Amino acid sequence: MVSLRPCLFILIFTLTITDTYSSNGRKAMHIFQTYIVYMGDHPKGMDPASSPSLHMAMAQKVIGSNSEPRSILHSYKSFNGFVMKLTEEEKERMAEMDEVVSVIPDSKYILHTTKSWDFIGFPQQVTRASMESDIIVGVVDTGIWPESKSFSDEGFGPPPKKWKGSCHNFTCNNKLIGAKYFNIDGSYRKKDIKSPRDPNGHGTHTSSTVAGNLVTASLLGYASGTARGGVPSARVAMYKACWVSGCRQADTLAALDAAIDDGVDVLSLSIGLGGLEYPAYFQTGTNIGSFHAMKRGIFVANSAGNSGPYFYTMTNYPPWMLSVAASTFDRKFVTKVRLGNGVVYEGSTINTFDLKNKMFPLISAGDIPNTAGGFNGSISRYCSENSVDKNAVKGKIVVCDNSVNPEKVGVFNGAAGVIFGAIGPKDLPSIFALPATFLSQGKLRNVQLYIESTRNATATILKSDEVKNTLSPYVAGFSSRGPNPITPNILKPDIAAPGVSVLAAWSPLNSISEFEGDKRKLSYNAICGTSMACPHAAAAAAYVKSFHPNWSPAMIKSALMTTATPMSSALNPEAEFAYGAGQINPVKAVNPGLVYDITEADYIQFLCGDGYTDKMLQPLTHENVSCHGKAQKRAAYNLNLPSFAIYHGNVGVFPRVFRRTVTNVGSAKSTYKATVITPSLLDIQVKPDVLSFTSIGQEKSFSVVIEGALTVKLISATLIWDDGNFQVRSPIVVYGDLPEPPDM
Ligand SMILES: *[C@@H]1O[C@H](CO)[C@@H](O)[C@H](O)[C@H]1NC(C)=O
Ligand SMILES: *[C@@H]1O[C@H](CO)[C@@H](O)[C@H](O)[C@H]1NC(C)=O
Ligand SMILES: *[C@@H]1O[C@H](CO)[C@@H](O)[C@H](O)[C@H]1NC(C)=O
Ligand SMILES: *[C@@H]1O[C@H](CO)[C@@H](O)[C@H](O)[C@H]1NC(C)=O
Repeated sequence: MVSLRPCLFILIFTLTITDTYSSNGRKAMHIFQTYIVYMGDHPKGMDPASSPSLHMAMAQKVIGSNSEPRSILHSYKSFNGFVMKLTEEEKERMAEMDEVVSVIPDSKYILHTTKSWDFIGFPQQVTRASMESDIIVGVVDTGIWPESKSFSDEGFGPPPKKWKGSCHNFTCNNKLIGAKYFNIDGSYRKKDIKSPRDPNGHGTHTSSTVAGNLVTASLLGYASGTARGGVPSARVAMYKACWVSGCRQADTLAALDAAIDDGVDVLSLSIGLGGLEYPAYFQTGTNIGSFHAMKRGIFVANSAGNSGPYFYTMTNYPPWMLSVAASTFDRKFVTKVRLGNGVVYEGSTINTFDLKNKMFPLISAGDIPNTAGGFNGSISRYCSENSVDKNAVKGKIVVCDNSVNPEKVGVFNGAAGVIFGAIGPKDLPSIFALPATFLSQGKLRNVQLYIESTRNATATILKSDEVKNTLSPYVAGFSSRGPNPITPNILKPDIAAPGVSVLAAWSPLNSISEFEGDKRKLSYNAICGTSMACPHAAAAAAYVKSFHPNWSPAMIKSALMTTATPMSSALNPEAEFAYGAGQINPVKAVNPGLVYDITEADYIQFLCGDGYTDKMLQPLTHENVSCHGKAQKRAAYNLNLPSFAIYHGNVGVFPRVFRRTVTNVGSAKSTYKATVITPSLLDIQVKPDVLSFTSIGQEKSFSVVIEGALTVKLISATLIWDDGNFQVRSPIVVYGDLPEPPDM
């Protein structure tokens, strides 16, 4: 279920069918579905403890008295909302009620590993603030393995005084100070563990990447070194909302609700919707939960998604969260195949099995269809489920034309190895339960030609070599790309962080390949995904916060983005839509010079500008919100983000004037000059282009005027405010209609 392979999951709703009798006595079939009813903030002066009864009273209005009794499955605490089973018609009526912001089907999220820290310039010996041990990082995931050395509390004092969290059915310590689990409708599968314990490894991995202790580790000798979190002195709280069946939205929102109430400082969410859906901002559990976290000053990082490399594949895109893309670092795994004719091809996977150069018969899956099952060679060549004759693979290396569904490799029980043609992103070093490698389509064709050219084709698959990836960093092919699918004039993703073959702690209940029957059950594993990038960014935010406890989430996000290391559009033609501001640099982010802050009121103005009405926004804030008047509506491009995006579309929108305000957090007396780096297609003016500050906390505003003609699909530029000491860098993107992603 981890990180990457399950990209192909689709949304599954929780359905219950019951027979009831309608008023005229006829038997009617009602299809109930679990929904989250979201109503924004609690009304002023309301005691959240009274929510369940108020929610029941409200539900009665909608479901009426004739209906069978039904209970509120869950009432949220840090905002006004509940979970209940409703029919389609009841859902419609609920959605029409004035106080209701959204009614969200309880669909599922999917899960989207430490040399990585050294590569981005964040060494073990970095300067640390004593505050670090007061920082609490909440992780919403599959649970945690408490006995892992990464979470030992040796040397840790008691939890910070502000902490209100606790541990459900679980033994915590002074490092792992909170652990709760959420399963609102009580549906468990056989392998689920009814506690925050992690049967999978994903949550243990992400948690240890954020805040794990320094532990000497390796994956059977590979990736050996010190596995460590970015903030090893910080405390960890696990909120388990992800089960064998996935992470349901209502559970995820309950997890976020609890984390907000317990008092975490930073949240790391490595989950997202699996399909290409673009829900509005208050139509998903993570968007709502992260909005309320922001209101309480809690920083939220979320994985961008694993549906790349196509445009418009972002799954987490509200401006109040940091959306994190996955980049490579300088370690790479190559797995070679040697054919009987002596030719060697290099592919990618992490293969820890040693065939000791023994040659095995090589066979194309297209030549061994499961004819009894009704399959022919044009199907079996892709190795789709059941299509290959299981008896014909014994002791052989099997060649599959593509890797669309490599999890089905389970059908190769008894095979000596598998060679896949890579059709998806090639930078995905998966781990399999048998010797395996991915070859490029060209190399795979040569292997097929070799099989056809000889009666006795043979091959062997070598143990992986760990080599230097000299091209790094670049964004991995699987990492989801922008633009922001619903607000084109806000750049997404925000930043890139390491997410390929990251070594971190693992649950010894799951094998490292996650295949049944694989006996390699270990305490550390190297895996891939934006799921692994997100906790790097959450740790960087926690690190910045340990130096600046009072900074708002937007200030921390700004610091991370404006100090990021620029990345190369030669390696990623999707440019900022692949890497946002660039590769994260935690050390620099502590001293950004200037920051772009955003208040809750600014987000409300942004929502007004985005088409939300007073009535829709009133429940979100319970303030007097008015979207009337120019000042109250803020166009998306004027939200005070440290990035600039214009969707040019088919209509001319030039010149575009962006307004921004920066706050001085560098030297009290300083003078910043604006430098713009742009191709000649654009003319970019900054007014004024000099900003002088006389004190810390002082704010100055400026405009960026962009003119030009869009003759290419995507133009990148950069604005840098420079006082000779600090460089405050912002990406600028101007773009037109980009290719849509293929159906997935
Ligand atoms: C507590 O967790 C154990 C497994 O760790 C499980 O068997 C038990 O049912 C759980 N108890 C409750 C009340 O959830
Ligand atoms: C192989 O099977 C598929 C699906 O059943 C069918 O469409 C195709 O025509 C078959 N090809 C041959 C060569 O029989
Ligand atoms: C192919 O292998 C078989 C059995 O291993 C052997 O009998 C035969 O001579 C081989 N043929 C060639 C052309 O190498
Ligand atoms: C909200 O608006 C109403 C009507 O304009 C006004 O009477 C009231 O004083 C306002 N409340 C606050 C808290 O500003």
